[in-house]
Amino acid sequence: MSLIDQIAPVKDSAMADLEEARDLAALDQAKGRYLGAEGRFTALMKQLGALPKEERPLAGKAINAAKVEIEAAVLARRTQLELEALMPAEPIDFTLPGRRRFVGRLHPLTRVTEDIVRCFRRLGFAVADGPEVEDEYHCFDALNTPADHPARDSQDTFFLEPNLGESMLLRTHTSSVQIRVMSKQPPPVRIVVPGRVYRRDNADSTHNPTFQQIEGLYVDKGVTVGDLKGTVETVFKELLGDEVRLRFRPHYFSYTEPSFEIDFSSSLTKSMGKEWLEIAGCGMVHPSVFQAVGYDAEEWSGWAFGFGIERIAMIRYGIPDIRLFYENDIRFLAQF
Ligand code: DAH
Repeated sequence: MSLIDQIAPVKDSAMADLEEARDLAALDQAKGRYLGAEGRFTALMKQLGALPKEERPLAGKAINAAKVEIEAAVLARRTQLELEALMPAEPIDFTLPGRRRFVGRLHPLTRVTEDIVRCFRRLGFAVADGPEVEDEYHCFDALNTPADHPARDSQDTFFLEPNLGESMLLRTHTSSVQIRVMSKQPPPVRIVVPGRVYRRDNADSTHNPTFQQIEGLYVDKGVTVGDLKGTVETVFKELLGDEVRLRFRPHYFSYTEPSFEIDFSSSLTKSMGKEWLEIAGCGMVHPSVFQAVGYDAEEWSGWAFGFGIERIAMIRYGIPDIRLFYENDIRFLAQF
């Protein structure tokens, strides 16, 4: 076989061997088998000198072209193998970690309110609502609160600019909703009213010019103080644990007779350094209130109460300062 005819098969064989080399060492060996001192391609080049002079240029050119191709193939395969060597043996997950979403949560006062409301719903109470901007009739007059009562003083209540001759105010308690509900529906009534109230107090650790109350009203035939005590105790045990104790102390409210303040005691109040903490006002609905809303006080009787929600939340979570509820400090709120 002439020298020129031998070139192509050797080149093809070289190309196939290079392609088969699985790593750099194998590639070097393959390269040596063709281009090394004892290589098959080198052997072809050595035969060149034995050719007749006139055949040498053509054969030389063909050999050189093939050599250039083989060297290029070696380089290409080398680059490919080097890249493969850089790739990790195991697949790597390059997905970025998910972006953390900030999950909001309920305000502690909302949570306490919802828990109280849930207890009362189970006992058959409905939730009622009323306006925060109230008139004197619903906030005071209909609740049997006389014109000279200190609560009606502008020192204690936020009055708004009189509108069309009527002086409006920010309700000082949720008791105004008792009147709104009873004026609109006949007895029996079983409602709770959570809501915001306003008083002209200077803020300190136990006072804030706005706070939340939950009002309760139960009107039916033959309702007694026993019902009041039993209901309130049931709800508080459910809310704050079985070991809580309640104490009813005689008090005065113009819209109830008799009236009581409810004191609360538990390991929590003791850890706050107090045996008893006042948490609510309550009593049997005063006949004058029934009269104002057109209920027959001979036929119907009822009880009512008003709790401060912040107080209960402070006891429940061990919070020392009421203002924390209103500062919207995320470090505080994120704890609930
Ligand atoms: N309104 C009273 C207050 O804000 C709380 C209260 C006392 C509500 C007696 C009542 C009640 O319904 O019967 O301090």
